[in-house]
Amino acid sequence: MRVLVTGGAGYIGSHTILELMAQGHDVCVLDNYSNASPEVLTRVRALSNGTIADFKGDIRDAKTLDDIMATFRPEAVIHFAGLKAVGESQEKPLHYYDVNVSGTLTLLHAMGRVGCRRIVFSSSATVYGEPDYLPCDEAHPTRPMSVYGRSKLMVEDILKDWAAAHPAASAVILRYFNPVGAHASTRIGEDPQDIPNNLMPYIAQVAVGKRDKLTIFGDDYDTADGTGLRDYIHVVDLARAHVAALDYAARKAGARPFNIGTGQSYSVKDMVAAFSRACGKDIPTVIAGRRSGDIAAIHADATRAKDELGWTASHTLDDMTASTWAWQSANPNGYDD
Ligand code: NAD
Ligand code: WQD
Repeated sequence: MRVLVTGGAGYIGSHTILELMAQGHDVCVLDNYSNASPEVLTRVRALSNGTIADFKGDIRDAKTLDDIMATFRPEAVIHFAGLKAVGESQEKPLHYYDVNVSGTLTLLHAMGRVGCRRIVFSSSATVYGEPDYLPCDEAHPTRPMSVYGRSKLMVEDILKDWAAAHPAASAVILRYFNPVGAHASTRIGEDPQDIPNNLMPYIAQVAVGKRDKLTIFGDDYDTADGTGLRDYIHVVDLARAHVAALDYAARKAGARPFNIGTGQSYSVKDMVAAFSRACGKDIPTVIAGRRSGDIAAIHADATRAKDELGWTASHTLDDMTASTWAWQSANPNGYDD
């Protein structure tokens, strides 16, 4: 299939392109490089030995999208492009709604002009908010606690209305839990441009000596060791979920959300211990207060993805920490190396 990958130079997009090409799909990338390095596609091309068309441009720019639709004529779109920092979304709500929501509207209009009616959308487990029960299935109420989370839920609603209005349309909504890890080649991985917001890249930067210590946000949660529990998912498993979602979109019309997680959770202290095993060093930590907006615990019920997409995660926690360490130690300065 000809697949347009928006945000394809990003962390999850770059890993997904490799899986798509391995399955024989033709890929075209649109990215404005606001949170990615052009070096990413150079490395992805070297790893895949294949051709990747790419356009530099903004998802909100209808003219750029029309050019891509006319030249590449995608049969499906995987839509990663967007902003993802929860804290920043509270400070710049209009910017987040503009990129994440208006950007998706612009994309759907451009797809409509060439009759492209298949989309796989990057949503997030953050749409659930504080869970009422665990594991969290797709029927769980959605109560996002940030602008970022609300922007994702708004797009989910838009996609449901869009699919309802076009009987042949398919929108596969993937609610990712906590993506971590890196490609086995050590050539691509997560490369935060600023101080990492997320746990795993922060630990990796402590291990490589770029930061002194990890601050653990709260050890007074109602969990076994008092620290937060999350469902970490290897980025290569996540990438493969997109390939499965594309196959599903070709078979099934409608809009449907799927949890993409392992169904298991680990605490912050578990993650520190696992990373320490992987890199053979102590990870210094300090306990601080809870981070505003954090929940105690969440993990996925990913049964629907198994039954309907034929997808399950296969990588272990040790695969996640070992691949993160291999990437970080081979590229201490990320794509600047
Ligand atoms: P990322 O920032 O690495 O990738 C996003 C890509 O989109 C970047 O390459 C960036 O340059 C590009 N982009 C941003 N704004 C753009 C615009 N206006 N026009 C064109 N390109 C633009 O993030 P990621 O971790 O790969 O996440 C991909 C998607 O998955 C995002 O939509 C994110 O919200 C979602 N998601 C991520 C996580 C996570 O923890 N990483 C979890 C759940 C959902
Ligand atoms: C995991 C755990 C923290 C950093 C966020 C977004 C979510 C999704 C994934 C995009 C929590 C603790 C973290 C640190 C810490 N992103 N922690 N010290 O908060 O589950 O989810 O990223 O869609 O929308 O909300 O992930 O990696 O930030 O935190 O103690 O320096 O690690 O408190 O318990 P989170 P995270």
